[in-house]
Amino acid sequence: MTITNQYPSLKYKVVLITGGASGIGANLVEAFCQQGAQVCFIDIRDDDAHKLVEQLSHSTSNTPPRYYRCNLLNIPKLQATIKQIYSDVGAINVLINNAANDTRHDFRNVTVDYWNERLAVNLRHHFFAAQAVYPQMLELGGGSIINLGSMSWYATQGGMPGYTSSKAAIEGLTRGLARDMGGDNIRVNTLVPGWVMTDRQVAMLTQEKTARNILENQCLKKSVMPEDISAMALFLASDDSRMCTAQHFIVDGGWI
Ligand SMILES: NC(=O)c1ccc[n+]([C@@H]2O[C@H](COP(=O)([O-])OP(=O)(O)OC[C@H]3O[C@@H](n4cnc5c(N)ncnc54)[C@H](O)[C@@H]3O)[C@@H](O)[C@H]2O)c1
Repeated sequence: MTITNQYPSLKYKVVLITGGASGIGANLVEAFCQQGAQVCFIDIRDDDAHKLVEQLSHSTSNTPPRYYRCNLLNIPKLQATIKQIYSDVGAINVLINNAANDTRHDFRNVTVDYWNERLAVNLRHHFFAAQAVYPQMLELGGGSIINLGSMSWYATQGGMPGYTSSKAAIEGLTRGLARDMGGDNIRVNTLVPGWVMTDRQVAMLTQEKTARNILENQCLKKSVMPEDISAMALFLASDDSRMCTAQHFIVDGGWI
């Protein structure tokens, strides 16, 4: 699938994407570059990140993305990185909180430390990134924050309670921040993907004996691809969605 829509309001916008080196995040990086945005992305997968920057430096006539190494478990480093982006390219117009980790875990074996770590990698940085971009968006007179949720908890999926709890909480975070920031013209929404065929998910599907029959569950008998998620993200980032906030937008082929 190729995204054909162009959003003039995204041209030259500074867009920060967390977890942009691989999976859906890498597709988001590419899609926003194709809109002429100045994309900055955070990750820890250096090899993937450098390859992506290299590839997009050749394949797009627009500004190539900028990679910032930052472990999102380290909140002071995340805050410093967001300040660094401001001094490098200017105020951030769009924040996409995308990074997560859905490693499976049996609830019987979860320790306090592991629980805290699951929430830190899947939820905590969403809040602190939003808090850190707020003064920059204020300076710009508005902005769009997009939090990546998940359909997993709607579908009562087990085997990863730290992840599903975080993803459910993200929708509460979205609605609370949308109220807090709405007066400053900052919109906050959740983008809820279905089962998206990233390389990692395809590998997990072949490993997981319990993997459901995705196409049986979806109304639409085609795979949800990263581009389908990016298409919604572009809309939510653009001025075309200027009156959308505090909502969740599901892209799952009609599963939940
Ligand atoms: N793929 C799916 O089927 C699916 C379904 C529902 C929701 N989602 C959500 O969409 C988003 C993207 O999913 P994905 O499948 O592309 O995930 P992924 O695991 O393939 O990629 C996540 C990216 O985040 C980065 N990351 C993880 N922990 C990090 C950390 N501590 N510091 C910095 N970077 C870190 C990873 O290196 C990776 O590049 C996630 O929020 C996920 O929960 C995905």
